Amino acid sequence: MKIAIVGSGYVGLVTGACFAEVGHEVVCIDNDDRKIKALRSGRIPIYEPGLEQLVQRNVSAHRLSFTGSIEEGVDSSPVIFIAVPTPPQADGSVDMTYIERVAREIASVLKEYRVIVDKSTVPVKTGEKVADTIRRYNKVNGEFDVVSNPEFLREGCAVADLMKPDRIVIGSNSERALAIMKRVYEPFMTPIMVTDVNSAELIKHAANSFLALKISYINALSAICEASGADVEKVADGIGADKRIGRSFLNAGLGYGGSCFPKDIAAFISISEQIGEPFHLLREVQRINQHQRERFLKKVRDTLWVLKEKRIAVWGLTFKPDTDDVRSSVAVDLVNDLIREGAHVTAYDPKGNQKVHEFNLCPGVHLASSALDAVRDAETLVLATEWPDFAAVDLAEVHRRMHTPIVFDGRNLFDPDTMRDLGFQYYRVGRPPTKANGSGLSNNDPVRIPIAMESRTTPVQDSSNRPVTKRPRYLAKASGSKTSVDRS
Ligand code: UGA
Repeated sequence: MKIAIVGSGYVGLVTGACFAEVGHEVVCIDNDDRKIKALRSGRIPIYEPGLEQLVQRNVSAHRLSFTGSIEEGVDSSPVIFIAVPTPPQADGSVDMTYIERVAREIASVLKEYRVIVDKSTVPVKTGEKVADTIRRYNKVNGEFDVVSNPEFLREGCAVADLMKPDRIVIGSNSERALAIMKRVYEPFMTPIMVTDVNSAELIKHAANSFLALKISYINALSAICEASGADVEKVADGIGADKRIGRSFLNAGLGYGGSCFPKDIAAFISISEQIGEPFHLLREVQRINQHQRERFLKKVRDTLWVLKEKRIAVWGLTFKPDTDDVRSSVAVDLVNDLIREGAHVTAYDPKGNQKVHEFNLCPGVHLASSALDAVRDAETLVLATEWPDFAAVDLAEVHRRMHTPIVFDGRNLFDPDTMRDLGFQYYRVGRPPTKANGSGLSNNDPVRIPIAMESRTTPVQDSSNRPVTKRPRYLAKASGSKTSVDRS
């Protein structure tokens, strides 16, 4: 089936490549000439595992092409997906300029029946507005239906999420459009949930808000755990084992970031206010998220006393592992907090260095060429993003290179016993601190529990089909582990 996708950004490109992979003939459209040129020559503007090969394979098979012309796409394809950005405005509401412009452009070239599919994350009732706009700007009274088909891709595993979705939501008020949409998704062999357009639009915002709510819930609990001497990971395992709750998205840390959650939660709050039903709970979700980073910073400050002139190494800049995306990254915010307090920050990220440098996101930061390079002579190490690469670093070597072996783990990546055995002063989120052997245990220090009794690998089964995002606790050896990510 021929499919056109307007917008060759993250969602548009991944969707286009995956549709082509299952046999559709896809044309991806973008008004950025440079991007189209790059894509035509096989260059992918984003880092997403598996995407480059997928694009190349389908371009070679003539199932995937790129153009700057909306007319070309609308003329050739019965289905046109809109996957353009919906950026936030200063007050949290969504800027609908791009969607509205695309609707006008489609209207100007639409001649015969087309299904217009909204894939971008949009406020409820957007479908109605897109339909009104097309009707208003189309001169030939062309037939069309507007459908909502929200995407649930996660950066870092977007290709797998699209190829094996746990649900496909299609919001359509037309049987004719629905029949075409079912043909689009038939090859994915996944249950399709059919709703009205407004419900489909709401499902997307409701899903992201709920996931953010889970994260803020566990982060609020992490503060209670720290104050009471409990361990948030054990609490998360304990409540997550209840299938009704599920273990995923209960990893305490520095809070959520990225181009979706912060924007979508703000947008949902704004939409709820606009329709007269303010969603107060989500304001608290936002507040906890902001507070979590402040609490972490306070812990660093309380321990180091004065941050001014301290040499602090930060591992991680992207908003999560397996992406080069540094938009609304908590790690970037944290680096800037530390710099603002006068610390000398050396940061390293396996994929994020370049964008931080290119867009000057952390003025004053020194970017290291490897994780080991970053910790040379550091007075403290802060782990801000849980890249598996960091878990594979030789921690004994880290200890040797640091000036003072103090580690603040903002994502609970390392194993506390290993850290203690290596001689680190180790601080985690929502868990008791660990001091080096021989440093003298304080009353707050945990009693060592035999490994077998610890819930370190509790079965983590979620009721959804998706892999549960509980992180493994990495057990680096005190010595002899030669694995290193030093790329200098
Ligand atoms: C999120 C949703 O998970 C996708 O379903 C959705 O399609 C996408 O937004 C979107 O709207 O486009 P994404 O932003 O790629 O996907 O990343 P997530 O894996 O959801 O992580 C978001 C943030 O939450 C990250 O900063 C991550 O570190 C944080 N997080 C996640 C936690 O702090 N704790 C957790 O337990 C899980």
